[in-house]
Amino acid sequence: MKNAMPNKLGKFKPVVYFICLVAATGGLLFGLDQGFIANALDTISKVYHMDTAAAERYSAILATGGVFGALLSGIFARYLGRKRSLVFAGFLFCTASLVSAFLPPIDTLTVCRFILGFAVGIASFIVPLYLAETAPARIRGAMGTLFQLLITIGIFLISVTDVFIDSLYSAPEMSLPRMFGVIVFFALLMFIGSLFLPESPRWLMLAGKKPQAIAALNRTLATKEEVDFEINEIEETLRGPKSAGIGIVFKGYFFKVLLVGVALQMFQQLVGINVMIYYAPKIFGYAGMTGLVAMLTVPTVNMLFTFPAIKWVDKWGRKKLLYAGAVIMLVSMLAAGLVFSSIGNQVDPAQIPGMAKGVLLAAVICYIFGFAMSWGPVAWLVCSEIFPLAGREVGMTITTMVNWTFAGLLMANSLTFMQTYGNASIFYLFAIFCVIAIVFVAAFVPETKGITLEEIEINLKAGKALRKLGEMEK
Ligand code: BGC
Repeated sequence: MKNAMPNKLGKFKPVVYFICLVAATGGLLFGLDQGFIANALDTISKVYHMDTAAAERYSAILATGGVFGALLSGIFARYLGRKRSLVFAGFLFCTASLVSAFLPPIDTLTVCRFILGFAVGIASFIVPLYLAETAPARIRGAMGTLFQLLITIGIFLISVTDVFIDSLYSAPEMSLPRMFGVIVFFALLMFIGSLFLPESPRWLMLAGKKPQAIAALNRTLATKEEVDFEINEIEETLRGPKSAGIGIVFKGYFFKVLLVGVALQMFQQLVGINVMIYYAPKIFGYAGMTGLVAMLTVPTVNMLFTFPAIKWVDKWGRKKLLYAGAVIMLVSMLAAGLVFSSIGNQVDPAQIPGMAKGVLLAAVICYIFGFAMSWGPVAWLVCSEIFPLAGREVGMTITTMVNWTFAGLLMANSLTFMQTYGNASIFYLFAIFCVIAIVFVAAFVPETKGITLEEIEINLKAGKALRKLGEMEK
C-alpha cells in the first residue's frame, strides 16, 4: 500500500535553495573548464609553442577525462556518498587548476587538463544526482536546472574574464596564469562550499543510516509530517534489492529507462551544441561581425535563456520544453543550412549578401536560445529522475558517459565533416537529429514534472509504459 500523502509537494525550508545553489557550483566548474579553451587556447598555444594538432589534443583531453570521471563516479557516489564525491571533485578542480597556473611543463599541463576533465565528469554525474535527491518534488525541476544554469554562467564568466585578462597583458606568460587563476578561485569556492552540504537523504537510507537521513531531511523540509512521508517513501522503494551492480541493466524495466536516458544525452550532443558554441565566432565572422561581440554573444545568450527554463521546467513540464527547443533548433539549422547552400564555401563577408548575413546571425542566436531553454537543462534533469534508486548510479554513469563520448566525437570530427561535405552539410545533419529527437521524445520520454522520484520508480516497476511513468495513480 502506498502511504497516505500529506501535502507532499508542500512545505520546505528556504535553505534548500541555498544548498542546491552550492551543490550546483559543480556545474560552474564544468562551464569554466569547458569554455576555457574558446578564448584561452591562443594564449596557451603561444606560451607552449603548440601547433594546431597539439592544441586540439590539449582541448580534447577534457572530454576523455570526462568519460573516465563519469565512469568512476558511480563507484564514488555509491561508496563515498554524494557529498564526499562533490568534495573530492572540488579538490581535484583546485589542485589541477592551481598546478596549471604555475605553467608547468606541457606534459604536466596536459595531465592537469585530463584531471580537470575527470573532475568535470564526476561533477556532471554527481550534481544532477544530488540535486534530484535533495530538492523537494515541487521545485526539483527548477533546482535540477540550476546545474545547467551554472554551466552556462561558467562558460560566460570564463569568456569574459579571459578576454579581459588578454586585454590587460601583452605577454601570454603573464595572462595565462591569471586565466587559470580564475578557475582556481571558483574551484576553491566550490570545494569549501561542498564541505558544508548535507548528505543526500536517499544515499543515507541506501547506506542504512536512517537517523542521519532524518537529520538531513530536517534541514530541508518544513514539518515532521513531510519528513516522515519522505522517509516512508524512500523505505518503500528500498524494499526491493538494495544495491544493484551493473547487472541491473539486464532487468527489463531498467533497460527501458536506460535507453531513454542514453538517447536523451546522445541527442543533447547530436543536435550540435558544442560545435555551434565553438564555431559561432567564425560564423559571425562570415556575417561581418567580429571582435568582442562575436566572442561574447553566444555565451551571453546561452546563459540568459537558461534562466527562464528554471521556471518553465516545472510549469510547462520537461517534454514541452524538449519539443519547443528541438523545433527552434531545427528551424534555425535549416535556415543556416540554406544560407550556406546558397553561398557555397564563400567566407568573405564582402561577398555575402546582407540578407544571408542577417539570417545567419538570427539562426545562430535562435539556435542557442532553443538549446538553452530546453535540451541543455532537461537532458541532465530527466536522467537524474528516471532511474530507480538502487540503479541510479549505474544509470547515470552510463548516460553521463554517453554525453561526454558524443561531445568528444562531435568536436573531433565536425571540422573534417564540414571540409569533406561542405559547410551546409553539418547544419542539415543537426536538423535531421532534431527531427529524430522530436519523434523520440513523443514516443518514449515520460513527463516527470511534479511527481516524486519514488512514484516514478513504482510506476516503472509496475510495468507502466515509458511515456506514462510520470503519471500519478488517481
Ligand atoms: C552540455 C555541454 C554544453 C553546455 C552548453 C551542457 O548541457 O552537456 O556539452 O557545452 O550544455 O551550455
